[in-house]
Amino acid sequence: MSFKTALTKVLDLRVPVVAAPLGRGTSAEFLEAVADCGGFGFTALMHMPEETVGDELAKMSRATKGRFGANLTLVVDQRKRLGAALDVGVRVFSLWQGDIDPYVRIIKGAGGLVFWTVGSPEDAARAKDIGVDFIVCQGREAGGHLVGSAPTMSLLPSMVDAARGVPVVAAGGIADGRGLVAALALGACGVWMGTRFVASKESANHRGYKERVVAARGTDLVETTLFDAGWHDSPHQVVRNSTYFRWEEAGRPPNGQRPGEGDRISSLPNGKPLHRYDIAAAWDTMEGDWEATPLYAGATVELIHDVKSVAEIVGGIEATAQAAIEAVTDLR
Ligand SMILES: Cc1cc2nc3c(=O)[nH]c(=O)nc-3n(C[C@H](O)[C@H](O)[C@H](O)COP(=O)(O)O)c2cc1C
Repeated sequence: MSFKTALTKVLDLRVPVVAAPLGRGTSAEFLEAVADCGGFGFTALMHMPEETVGDELAKMSRATKGRFGANLTLVVDQRKRLGAALDVGVRVFSLWQGDIDPYVRIIKGAGGLVFWTVGSPEDAARAKDIGVDFIVCQGREAGGHLVGSAPTMSLLPSMVDAARGVPVVAAGGIADGRGLVAALALGACGVWMGTRFVASKESANHRGYKERVVAARGTDLVETTLFDAGWHDSPHQVVRNSTYFRWEEAGRPPNGQRPGEGDRISSLPNGKPLHRYDIAAAWDTMEGDWEATPLYAGATVELIHDVKSVAEIVGGIEATAQAAIEAVTDLR
């Protein structure tokens, strides 16, 4: 079936499907697979060292022929990473958390596009004046760090109403074509999916983490602020794991008194220690206790039953979207 929305038009996509930034999971190989299917993927820059971010993005740009975007989490100063990304030709950016105004000015000055992830109609109403091109409405059932004030089903239409014509992409709780059709019906121009793509063959997330996402039910998830080394007081949704259970069994003690605090559970790719309660989720080549890291996932674990290739995921979205539309048109 053929989709025509503000998102497919502006980014020249075949399907209105965005792969969300997934920490270390959105590798060049992953982004290439998404672009090859006619979708669009974002890579997260937060964990990339400032000295190498340009090289990493240049590799992604070659793999995708420039069809990908870069995500900046504004809880730290990201101006050097933004500059490096612009230098290698990246022109599509996703921003969230923190003050986006100075970043939007730089990106728009370079002729770029801005996606802004927000969680309330009040923020959606400000997007137009700031110069944002696409709002990403993140519902509270999402995986990873959370900004949404309500679940997607009710938040999305209220944000569309508030957005003053800025197109809205729906994030949180969407894993197949039925979710896509529902989001389009609620006024979105596309979907932004995280948890479903964690459990994809090409994502650079750890194999064990993918299997946990597949095995989890909604009742295995918890919203917490526990994994906070490097980013304090920021709610995130994860699959409960050994770090969480130990902390719970210890009576949920405050920072500084948590069990195993300071344990070195692995090393980061640059050789620095990775400690328990750090925000980094397990990546494919990680050695050590991958299970102790935050296993970010959202409510779509109820819909994810296997690790699939990106092509199977996107093909499945198209097939189930078609079936969902036929089912309702048959009712007439
Ligand atoms: C493993 C993981 C890592 C994430 N990292 C980021 C990130 O670095 N930047 C960001 O803007 N969003 C991040 N998110 C949130 C996603 O952008 C998105 O809002 C969310 O995954 C949508 O909900 P879903 O998981 O139900 O599809 C992450 C989500 C997951 C699951």
